[in-house]
Amino acid sequence: MFKVGDDFDRIQAARPDYKCDAQVTFSKPPNPDWKQGDGANDGGESLKKEHVEIDPYEEGRPVSANYKLLISGIVPRPIALISTRSQDGKTTNLAPFSYAQVINHDPPLFTVGFVGSLEKAKDSLKNMVETGECVINLISEHFVEAANATAVSAPYGVSEWEISGLHQATCSVVQAARVKESILSIEGKLVETKEFQSRTTGKTTGTLAIIEGVRFWVRDDAIDDEKAVVDLKVLKPISRLGGIAYGLTTDAIELLRPKF
Ligand SMILES: Cc1cc2nc3c(=O)[nH]c(=O)nc-3n(C[C@H](O)[C@H](O)[C@H](O)COP(=O)(O)O)c2cc1C
Repeated sequence: MFKVGDDFDRIQAARPDYKCDAQVTFSKPPNPDWKQGDGANDGGESLKKEHVEIDPYEEGRPVSANYKLLISGIVPRPIALISTRSQDGKTTNLAPFSYAQVINHDPPLFTVGFVGSLEKAKDSLKNMVETGECVINLISEHFVEAANATAVSAPYGVSEWEISGLHQATCSVVQAARVKESILSIEGKLVETKEFQSRTTGKTTGTLAIIEGVRFWVRDDAIDDEKAVVDLKVLKPISRLGGIAYGLTTDAIELLRPKF
């Protein structure tokens, strides 16, 4: 994995080419004969290992170590490519956020974590708070470079749409545009925000936004007749891993739900 200071171009050039025809493949689980009580499938190997205890605020530990641990350990994370519009409707904004998750389906609710306070809000959060609206777009393999480009720290008012080359499509309920290339987009209304303070400095360091999904847009070749299941083979979702790594979702297994 690339580390700061490494020669990124050299490392990238030495890697195998991207497999553009790689399909989603379902394989058997590690132990297809697993029975109740069998525990881990590694023959007890993991039980021979020890753990390191880490207090996130232990002396001398920089905040950046917690950031690195969380973004590399809590993986893969979905990425919400968020589209917003300014209150006056004159400017638009597009940026990726991986502190993002669906947390309920009735009503459909999503959380997004923004680094920083409401006072010094990132452009997406500022627009979202001022308009009460946004669109959450899921990122697929076919536009991962463009989506990554929207993370550029452009000044407020400068649109990342042109920088990325992605296309806008009209929404029904919210004013912001959805990403036309996206297989799944969700029109959202802001429910509430909550700020959080650093345990060491007391300064506001993060803002949680809870968003209600009011419209789903799914590409027609990715949804079934009941408009219920999104086809993983079409979605080919991109997730965020640690550092600057993205995950592809091309290998899957299935396990039956246990019955009591
Ligand atoms: C894959 C990826 C995930 C990111 N996730 C977050 C996140 O969860 N929260 C955050 O505050 N910034 C996150 N960022 C950084 C923002 O995208 C970046 O600060 C961006 O410039 C914000 O844009 P805005 O100011 O136009 O809203 C992420 C960047 C990338 C590339």
